[in-house]
Amino acid sequence: MGIRFNHSNSFITEHEYKYMENQIRIAHKMLHDRTAQGSEFTGWLDLSLHFDHDEYHRLLMKAEEIRNNADYLIVIGIGGSYLGARAVIEALNHSFYNLIEDDKRSAPKILFAGNNLSGKYLSDLFEIIKDKEVYVNVISKSGTTTEPAIAFRFFKKFMEDKYGKEGAKKRIIATTDKSRGSLKELANINGYETFVIPDDIGGRYSVLTPVGLLPIAVSNINTDEILKGAFQAEEIYTNENLFDNECYMYAASRQILNRKGKDIEILTNYEPSLSFVSEWWKQLYGESEGKDKKGIYPASVNFTTDLHSMGQWIQDGKRNIFETNLIIKELNKDLTIGYEDMDLDKLNYLSGKTVSYVNEKAFEGTLEAHVKGDVPNLVIELDRLDEYNMGSLIYFFEKACAISGYIQGINPFDQPGVEMYKKNMFKLLGKPE
Ligand code: PA5
Repeated sequence: MGIRFNHSNSFITEHEYKYMENQIRIAHKMLHDRTAQGSEFTGWLDLSLHFDHDEYHRLLMKAEEIRNNADYLIVIGIGGSYLGARAVIEALNHSFYNLIEDDKRSAPKILFAGNNLSGKYLSDLFEIIKDKEVYVNVISKSGTTTEPAIAFRFFKKFMEDKYGKEGAKKRIIATTDKSRGSLKELANINGYETFVIPDDIGGRYSVLTPVGLLPIAVSNINTDEILKGAFQAEEIYTNENLFDNECYMYAASRQILNRKGKDIEILTNYEPSLSFVSEWWKQLYGESEGKDKKGIYPASVNFTTDLHSMGQWIQDGKRNIFETNLIIKELNKDLTIGYEDMDLDKLNYLSGKTVSYVNEKAFEGTLEAHVKGDVPNLVIELDRLDEYNMGSLIYFFEKACAISGYIQGINPFDQPGVEMYKKNMFKLLGKPE
């Protein structure tokens, strides 16, 4: 396993973890016995046991077809139906994936839609793709979510105008419920190829289903390896003993810190390509735990960029925060800093050192400073930023979230709060009953 969890700067004592052992065991039992609230949405827990290999094979064939024929894949979806795919695509691909020249790329550019209600965004997007070869993957479990539904109405027309009904039908793929919802109905009527979001997996836990796997596979990332990493994590993190399970140590640390007044968890990274992993993580934890007037507020910063903004707050602001640092030990690309005769920028002391080395020292220095500033720091370290570790990390965070939620005393698998804005918006829009 290429993931390690370090709590040596958490300010949590051994006995505090010991007090948690039993609660962890109970949460583990609730989750694995499927006796607790939300258990009908725990299909992600042992996905390897009921993974649909036939559908996966069909998905890989479709991804290849899209790779061979498209300049652009447009992924329409919001929340759990979009963030996981984007997180993995951005983490594992070239930093400027969409900017690689056409003759040098082996996969289409990937753009996202249906995750906002901006007419400007959509108009700009159509301007970019109007003369290009386009495939559309529309993703919605309920099939009724307003943002992707509105975007898809425009894309359906765009594709039909561009390719005719028959041509559009071949280039639109719907990922949705196996039998219910407007999107499923639309797909049936129009003959779109569909992929299934299993009934027992909720949106934010669905990245390892076709929701994430199809767009990720289109971008030429090895999804077999992602699944391998996730399934390995599934095995490793089944140990109910807190001290033998790093995933549970992370969950326990969060809850201990929360009980000590730390209301905000800040996920930090030192790699720009991880910024959407943070967005995915925020959705996972925010939507899972923020209930019944409880919950840790999940925030994120991208270092070292944000050390020049939020760094001040973290160092000296209100002490109601803790940090979880997502660190990559070894990257497959790097640059060595050169020597300059004049040394006007006074950087010759770094000549011969890599940029990653400087980044590593920035992390170590920041951690020391923040710990000195009374901010508990947890560290999740990945050996490498690769498919296997990304699969393991996804599972690590999903399981820790479920366990942490049960310890907190909420249902980590529902999201009743997100209905409120919809109700008001629909009323203001005059939606018929
Ligand atoms: O995690 C969740 O359940 C949500 O974030 C959903 O993924 C999001 O609201 C999109 O829902 P749907 O896939 O039904 O369009």
